[in-house]
Amino acid sequence: MTKNWSPDSWKNKPDPQRTDYPDAKALDATVERLRNYPPLVFAGEARRLKAHLAKVAAGEAFLLQGGDCAESFAEFHPNNIRDTFRVMLQMAVILTFGGVTPVVKVGRMAGQFAKPRSEAIEKQGDVTLPSYKGDIINHIDFDAKGRAPDPERMVQAYNQSAATLNLLRAFAQGGYADLHKVHQWTLNFVDKSPVGERYRDLAGRLDEALSFMGACGLTSDTVPQLRETEFFTSHEALLLPYEQALTRVDSTSGDWYDVSAHMLWIGDRTRDPAGAHVEFLRGVKNPLGLKCGPSMQTDDLIKLIDILNPANEAGRLTLIVRMGSDKVVEKLPTLLRAVKKEGRNVVWASDPMHGNTVKTASGIKTRPFDRIMSEAKSFFTVCQAEGVHPGGVHLELTGRDVTECLGGSIAISESNLGDRYDTHCDPRLNASQGIELAFLFAEFLKVQRSAAKDKLFIERSA
Ligand code: PEP
Ligand code: CO
Repeated sequence: MTKNWSPDSWKNKPDPQRTDYPDAKALDATVERLRNYPPLVFAGEARRLKAHLAKVAAGEAFLLQGGDCAESFAEFHPNNIRDTFRVMLQMAVILTFGGVTPVVKVGRMAGQFAKPRSEAIEKQGDVTLPSYKGDIINHIDFDAKGRAPDPERMVQAYNQSAATLNLLRAFAQGGYADLHKVHQWTLNFVDKSPVGERYRDLAGRLDEALSFMGACGLTSDTVPQLRETEFFTSHEALLLPYEQALTRVDSTSGDWYDVSAHMLWIGDRTRDPAGAHVEFLRGVKNPLGLKCGPSMQTDDLIKLIDILNPANEAGRLTLIVRMGSDKVVEKLPTLLRAVKKEGRNVVWASDPMHGNTVKTASGIKTRPFDRIMSEAKSFFTVCQAEGVHPGGVHLELTGRDVTECLGGSIAISESNLGDRYDTHCDPRLNASQGIELAFLFAEFLKVQRSAAKDKLFIERSA
């Protein structure tokens, strides 16, 4: 058990993103209700993810984390869940087959509802209202009633998360993820893009390998790994009353787990070592993520690692770097060296999205795909130069054909942005942009793998 910690010890600490509910009694009643609801995930599953992430920390696997910036009640539809799951499967196949590396798949799904905001209030004309903070807190429409935080939304978010998870588990284990279906996963609009052709070519080679294995008796019936996959969930643990309500003692280990998701992360705006979010998450045993933006200082990072992973357990902590394409080369090496020098066991992952948000002349929030590519490339190059495993990526993406990020192989221009700009918060990659990135990562991983092999060969022959 963590010292001086309880599921509500965060309440004594500062929370710069705190939500003030107008009706405190209603909030308490909802939290009490949620406390009695079934867990969304099991502690054993969270431990399993931790074990997979320990492999990533050891350089033996790669983390693919992705999904919406913010899930919404309006976009809740089985097709949306399927499409995001499917593009993650496609990306995982590219990385596993192309990059010859096992992939740990974690969705920003089934709970990613709360959004930190730079401004607590929004002004339109003479009217000032609380900012929209995600569907779990208030409504996106700019009117007083909608913007008032409503605890009942937590129950709706819980129910949507439960239904989403139910479908994800069925997709992962019910035959949809069978590798023999690699061709069928292709989404129509991706098929028509240049990356579609690249994907078809890879899927063809994978098919041949599977046919050969089948001839040797290794089929979906005999090898469950070909038939099903493991898919985990994650979200930013921003809304602490909700997370507290879903924090339970695991009967097998006697440890506290936040059973709202397998993995939880701390955002770049709430990573104060003395703040409420760090206090809450230090006490739960789930694998954790920590966003590291350009203002992250080495001392603070080491302090945060001490607090969040005092036992230096591999797989417990993933550092998610989101510096921006113009800053990553300058800022990342110092952090990598300090953590390596201190002998801390962590996963390093790249979020090439959040440091690359810009506004167009007409005021639309977007992200240029070439900046996203550039930050991801720099992340790999810097990690490899420092002898650190570039362990994973964290992306905002959807399987749908949205037009939210500029560029990509089906080039989206500023004038196209309005066509299908559906996000409730930040701009997401669409499926073909996600697949293009996966090919890039696969190339880096392949080069890294052959360099490691050459090194081993040279050492053995010396
Ligand atoms: C996010 O992941 O949606 C987010 C807000 O990220 P960050 O905390 O890195 O800004
Ligand atoms: Co975001």
